[in-house]
Amino acid sequence: MSDRNGLQTTFNLDLPLIDFAGSAWTVRNAVEGVQIFGGIGSGKTSGSGRMLALKYLSAGFGGLVLTAKPDEKDLWQDYCAAAGRREDLMIVEPGGEHTFNFLTYEGQGGNTENIVQVLKTVIQASEEKASGAKQDPFWETALDMLIFHIIDLCQLAYGEVTLQTLYDIVQTLPGQTEGAAVQEGAFHKAYAAALNRVDGQVTAWEAAQSTDRLAQLQSQFAYDAAVCQDMPDARLLKFVDQFFHETYGNLSEKTRSIIDFSFSGFLFRLLREPVFSLFCQGISTFTPEDCLDGKIILLNLPVKIYHKVGRDCQIMFKYIWQRAMEKRRIAENGRPVFLWGDEAQNFLHEYDAEYQATARSSRIATVYISQNLPNYHANMGGAKSDFRVKSFLGTLSTKVFHANADKDTNDYASALIGEGFFEETSRQTSVSGEFSSSKTKSLKIDRIIRPEEFPRLKTGGTKNKGRVAAYVHFQGNVLNTDESFIKAHFDQNYTPTM
Ligand SMILES: Nc1ncnc2c1ncn2[C@@H]1O[C@H](COP(=O)(O)OP(=O)(O)O)[C@@H](O)[C@H]1O
Ligand SMILES: [Mg+2]
Repeated sequence: MSDRNGLQTTFNLDLPLIDFAGSAWTVRNAVEGVQIFGGIGSGKTSGSGRMLALKYLSAGFGGLVLTAKPDEKDLWQDYCAAAGRREDLMIVEPGGEHTFNFLTYEGQGGNTENIVQVLKTVIQASEEKASGAKQDPFWETALDMLIFHIIDLCQLAYGEVTLQTLYDIVQTLPGQTEGAAVQEGAFHKAYAAALNRVDGQVTAWEAAQSTDRLAQLQSQFAYDAAVCQDMPDARLLKFVDQFFHETYGNLSEKTRSIIDFSFSGFLFRLLREPVFSLFCQGISTFTPEDCLDGKIILLNLPVKIYHKVGRDCQIMFKYIWQRAMEKRRIAENGRPVFLWGDEAQNFLHEYDAEYQATARSSRIATVYISQNLPNYHANMGGAKSDFRVKSFLGTLSTKVFHANADKDTNDYASALIGEGFFEETSRQTSVSGEFSSSKTKSLKIDRIIRPEEFPRLKTGGTKNKGRVAAYVHFQGNVLNTDESFIKAHFDQNYTPTM
């Protein structure tokens, strides 16, 4: 069914997308998530990746594409052209036509909590990728509180939050600067402005109170309590005051400087071009919700070129996008949307497992492509991350394993596919003097696909006539047979028929 503009408006979850030896893999399976593993050059991008991208585009999905390599923009331009979706592709890049101001988008109605949540998630993901370890809870809480109070202060003082103000304030916190410089600092100025604002509110409030009420508020304690109860801003300022002049000031200098640096280092990266103009100021020419109308947003800030800031921005937009997609109403608009990450380890954050768990009900078809499990471990909290990584992978129902030399990944794939009984024939020789031998058959249990088989899979190219092999594992009943996996071949020259 389509609307007046020719846009598809109803989406059938049972629409078959891929035929695996006579079994239909449908939109329902797509929104349960896909993980593709394989060594460099194994055919992840040009084999299974290409096929899925073209199928999703042909079926009318909207989507978000995160990029690690500079050639991904061209690739998606080709995909969109091949699938008749050229008009829907929106490329967000330095010097391009699109900008998105995340502060105004997230801070609508003075909602500082959303901004805090976004900043903190990205900073944490960024720190985790840098140190390879999940920070301890103390550090997380302290950073959280710092971000919260600085944003509140900014909002109280100026009625809006800008990155430059946040940055200036964090540079001039009490305890960092001495003497006269304190009075000149951005923190002090913001604090004075906030105080002034709240004072004004208190004066107006007092004038509006009856003499009886004021008489009841003789003690300072009762007065303060009434002020805080009636004016949220006054209460907020009290918290801000307590935090900066007591709690934070009492932390050791070393702890404080680590926390300050995490926050200011992150802000510093966002404040510089090209990112600043793209995501942090001015108007928004698009929003995540555009994907629900079939747009494909591609963030052309490849990690290979823009490094840390490219990653920060993409994680930030991905997180904002995930939250927006979660809020959608399927009954009104059921269009599936895809979340695409080639070299996906770059784009993970701590809430991914959580979002993935509900992605199916929000019709988010995630496709994460990565070489191996150690890549995920390194980006999801280091050595102790086994449980996190495995449970995260559990949320992606279809797993494609291409040729791989990584032992961990091959062991994981082999174990996932499972064990089976095999007939083993052995020759027994009796030792009773005369030689006689007899064949006996016994059943032995072994891995159905042994880890050593994965390095041998075909990797495409002309020598394989463009055929890329993979073992594909499904959670739930996808295949018509009793099996939960299949050996599949993907064609690097696949093009959709329109
Ligand atoms: N359209 C194509 N036709 C034939 N060979 C290709 C095509 N695209 C890529 N290749 C080759 O196929 C192999 C797999 O490439 P690729 O999909 O980029 O691997 P990966 O993404 O797993 O690193 C490489 O050897 C590459 O040069
Ligand atoms: Mg690739």
